[in-house]
Amino acid sequence: MVESEAPHSGRMADVIPPVPRVSIHVFCESPSLSGMVEGAVADRRMQNAKVKSRMGGVRGALAAYREEQAPDVIVLEVGGDSATFLADLDGLAEFCDDSTRVVVMGRINDITLYRALMARGVSEYLVEPFHALEFVRAISELYTKPGGGVLGRIIGVYGAKGGVGASTVAHHLSWSIATKLDTSVVLVDLDLPFGTAGLDLNQDPLQGIAEAVFSPERLDSNMLDRLMTKCADRLSLLAAPATLNREYDFNEDAFDGVMGLLRGSAPIVVLDIPHVWTAWARRLLLNVDEIVLVAEPDLANLRNAKNFLDLAGPARTNDAKAKLVMNRVGVPKRPEIPLKEFTTAINVTASAVIPFDPKLFGMAANNGQMVAEIPGGAKLGEIILNLGRTLTGRPEMQAAKKTSLIESLKSTKLPFSFAKTT
Ligand SMILES: Nc1ncnc2c1ncn2[C@@H]1O[C@H](COP(=O)(O)OP(=O)(O)OP(=O)(O)O)[C@@H](O)[C@H]1O
Ligand SMILES: [Mg+2]
Repeated sequence: MVESEAPHSGRMADVIPPVPRVSIHVFCESPSLSGMVEGAVADRRMQNAKVKSRMGGVRGALAAYREEQAPDVIVLEVGGDSATFLADLDGLAEFCDDSTRVVVMGRINDITLYRALMARGVSEYLVEPFHALEFVRAISELYTKPGGGVLGRIIGVYGAKGGVGASTVAHHLSWSIATKLDTSVVLVDLDLPFGTAGLDLNQDPLQGIAEAVFSPERLDSNMLDRLMTKCADRLSLLAAPATLNREYDFNEDAFDGVMGLLRGSAPIVVLDIPHVWTAWARRLLLNVDEIVLVAEPDLANLRNAKNFLDLAGPARTNDAKAKLVMNRVGVPKRPEIPLKEFTTAINVTASAVIPFDPKLFGMAANNGQMVAEIPGGAKLGEIILNLGRTLTGRPEMQAAKKTSLIESLKSTKLPFSFAKTT
């Protein structure tokens, strides 16, 4: 028997915030809990989550993650005795990175088991019987409870010079992470008058980032959700209006509210930041979790990249250096600064080098497609996907195997804070 009484009067339901765009894998042992999960997945608060439910319990999870990437949340049912379950749970640690949350459910109502689970960094233990809504609440609270840790990682993509392909990189990167790395992404087009994310992703949304930033008093996570356009299974877009019937002058802190909400909405948020140097752009760039700096191999790009890194470095002493993407490399007949010279001069290695390929990028842009979808574009797609792997930490999965479950599950990320930067 899984179901407890349905929460009466709907009061309980009202106070459960929607579950963000996370991936959840559930490994059940009993048909009753599997049925409960089905009910929970149908709940409106779960509509943004990607849930995969299967049988097999913790052993099933161990087998699965030898083959596939661990999700944001793993839910396990305790099958047999608790000692065996705990031993298997320890084995699962090697497949979890520092953002994986684990929820356990089962019949054993025992404080010793509860303590053992908590000591291993498990976020919640749900004891049967419980209603599907309590399951939804447990998942929601992983991300919404005060002190529960912050979900989203914000990546700001910026061009060292206008027209170097920063938007192209931001859009392709978002698409690659969402469709190839199974991670939900929200792409935000901050080039309000001229943004091309809608065109590149073949969307023509009526609303987007402008409505969010011009109505801060009405903005909450529900409104933000409504302003997003779904471009692919895991890719949502907060599009730019791309119209010139008004000016877009913003205060330095104009995007603070949106960024706070975005951080709670998806594991990865990609900002396509136009090549401007305004107070708001500078503030965003200095406060994102990762900067991707896109440059072409010429002198103006080199000077600008150096100036930018000289400014960002001291302002972000506890952050990783900006990731450099060299784009449009190899324009015929153009004298270019060799890659080694460029990177040595600014003391950053290139995280990706994208060749100049006007045919493929041009076709992709005109068709509203990504280069990886165009015949002959697989190699370019792989370069951008590798950048996605670097930014989402996939290569570090091997290193994470050495950390204990406690270490890997307990660490939380810093909230998005907008310290004054001037
Ligand atoms: N590697 C590449 N090879 C060939 N063309 C490219 C490449 N990358 C981008 N482009 C093209 O370069 C042009 C400018 O790209 P994009 O709009 O992404 O630049 P940007 O840096 O965002 O510009 P802005 O300063 O206007 O924001 C587009 O036509 C795009 O298709
Ligand atoms: Mg751009």
